[in-house]
Amino acid sequence: MQAWRVHRNGEPSEVMELEETDRPTPGDGQVLLKVLAANINFPDALLCRGQYQVRPPLPFTPGVEICGETEDGRRVLATPALPDGGFAEYVVADEAALLPVPDALDDAEAAALHIGYQTGWFGLHRRAHLQAGETLLVHAAAGGVGSAAVQLGKAAGATVIGVVGGPEKAAIARRLGCDLVIDRRSEDIVTAVKEATGGRGADVVYDPVGGDAYAKSVKCIAFEGRVVVVGFASGTIPAPGLNHALVKNYSIVGLHWGLYNTKDPAAVRACHDELTKLAAQGVVKPLVSERLPMADAARGVQRVADGTSTGRVVVLPAGGTR
Ligand SMILES: NC(=O)c1ccc[n+]([C@@H]2O[C@H](COP(=O)([O-])OP(=O)(O)OC[C@H]3O[C@@H](n4cnc5c(N)ncnc54)[C@H](OP(=O)(O)O)[C@@H]3O)[C@@H](O)[C@H]2O)c1
Repeated sequence: MQAWRVHRNGEPSEVMELEETDRPTPGDGQVLLKVLAANINFPDALLCRGQYQVRPPLPFTPGVEICGETEDGRRVLATPALPDGGFAEYVVADEAALLPVPDALDDAEAAALHIGYQTGWFGLHRRAHLQAGETLLVHAAAGGVGSAAVQLGKAAGATVIGVVGGPEKAAIARRLGCDLVIDRRSEDIVTAVKEATGGRGADVVYDPVGGDAYAKSVKCIAFEGRVVVVGFASGTIPAPGLNHALVKNYSIVGLHWGLYNTKDPAAVRACHDELTKLAAQGVVKPLVSERLPMADAARGVQRVADGTSTGRVVVLPAGGTR
């Protein structure tokens, strides 16, 4: 089969190579899946660079979430077992963790439903306890996890402010349903948030970026606000001033969604049921901006790494168009 493999760490476009290799063999409790669509996530870039919290042995295939087909023809969502990730024609995955694909979604949309939306759901509801009527500030709102958080924030009845880099992303964030969009390149985030909230600030901040995004967030967070620490796409891990959290009465809330798969798998399934309902209602619809043929996967991962992609970029290894 064809698979993209990484033999040394570096920039995705330089270290990902499309090769002919053997299909992976399922172990105990695992199944072989044909990959219909593989969604590109920022961690794929970090995996290539050797900067992710998991470092699979070289050579490995990146690709952390897929929509696949079982041998008996069912469409399922799966997280492939690394080192044999999803940018390949076939993967193996744990059978117990497979989830049914919502009928409302095509293969590419389904491949983008799992990590981004589950992270948004657990971040906003379980960790930050977002309430209807509150103001939610989402950084990288036109990106992968950001676009999911915008849709879920609106579904929860929040007023959603999206922060993006550039006018093209601003237009996308507006179309996603943001009540207000701030272009971080041309506007001051703190002033704009304070203006929009009558000086109160945002109740919940969803931050997949870190660095400057975090620093600005705590300058415009509301009394008893919650900052959800989702990721560090900027490359800078903030060092928060706890004295600042004390004097302003806000909470800094960490989120590692992957842990729920072992700590509370029933909650992951319950979340999937809820997302399936929201997808059927059209409230949740993954924003797939590009559907790439297998040959273009490395280019796609590089675009996500560079922060120039919008929504989700999905690879179709079987050559389909869905
Ligand atoms: N905690 C968890 O459980 C969890 C789960 C999934 C993902 N994550 C994390 O969430 C983050 C986002 O992942 P994603 O796949 O959805 O990616 P993404 O948001 O689609 O892409 C990253 C975005 O970050 C912004 N950005 C700001 N500075 C950047 C820089 N120097 N380089 C690249 N991007 C920059 C860009 O948006 P603007 O230009 O609009 O600012 C860019 O589009 C990653 O850090 C990932 O590891 C965490």
